Amino acid sequence: MTALIDRFNGAARRVPTWPLYILCAIPGFWFFYLGLTGGLGVEPIKALEHKLGELALQFLIAGLAVTPLRRHLGVNLLKFRRMLGLVAFFYVLTHLLVWLLLDVQIVSQIWADILKRPYITVGMAGFVLLLPLALTSNNWSVRKLGPKWRQLHKLAYVAVLLGAIHFVMLVKGFQIEPYLYLAAILTLLALRIRPARRKVAI
Ligand code: HEM
Repeated sequence: MTALIDRFNGAARRVPTWPLYILCAIPGFWFFYLGLTGGLGVEPIKALEHKLGELALQFLIAGLAVTPLRRHLGVNLLKFRRMLGLVAFFYVLTHLLVWLLLDVQIVSQIWADILKRPYITVGMAGFVLLLPLALTSNNWSVRKLGPKWRQLHKLAYVAVLLGAIHFVMLVKGFQIEPYLYLAAILTLLALRIRPARRKVAI
């Protein structure tokens, strides 16, 4: 098993990150194309909004899985973490833009929805928290902020939780899917908790 993981880590080290940005963004462009060409059913804007929202959550979860995978299984995907976070942000942003520009469109209605619909308020809070993280996901900010950078990027845990709660809140009736996302996130967060070091009696 260890030999297999070592081989996997070796192979992952050789994979360049930049093509993965393009590869991971392709589903978004594909769904946009389907929406334009009638491939997303009778309500293409709603369908696109939903597809982008799910992709956002899936990439946020993938980013959250990197540390537990390394800590508990020895699988090292650290070099892909920034890419996963930025792709997740790309999907949150396009999800928000579809809602703003194609769905609601009216400025007064946008504010009314943000203030009056709790699931929109929660989604918006998730987006606002992700904004400084996306803006500081570059080497210059990592150097400039030093240890504060790690502290700041802990906001990702809250943002991803808000994303899942937003999903739980918006579905009508009982649906298992949003709860599965929420359970995955809570499990990944629990796996990050380090047991408190026991004091050694001298
Ligand atoms: C962390 C940020 C966010 C995440 C992870 C996220 C994720 C999701 C997910 C998973 C869905 C449901 C997809 C489905 O039904 O299959 C959804 C729906 C939706 N989201 Fe978001 N979202 C986020 C932020 C936002 C923001 C900022 C807005 C707007 C201000 C927004 C507006 C909506 C709307 C309008 C729907 C569809 C609701 C309906 O069914 O009518 N979301 N989102």
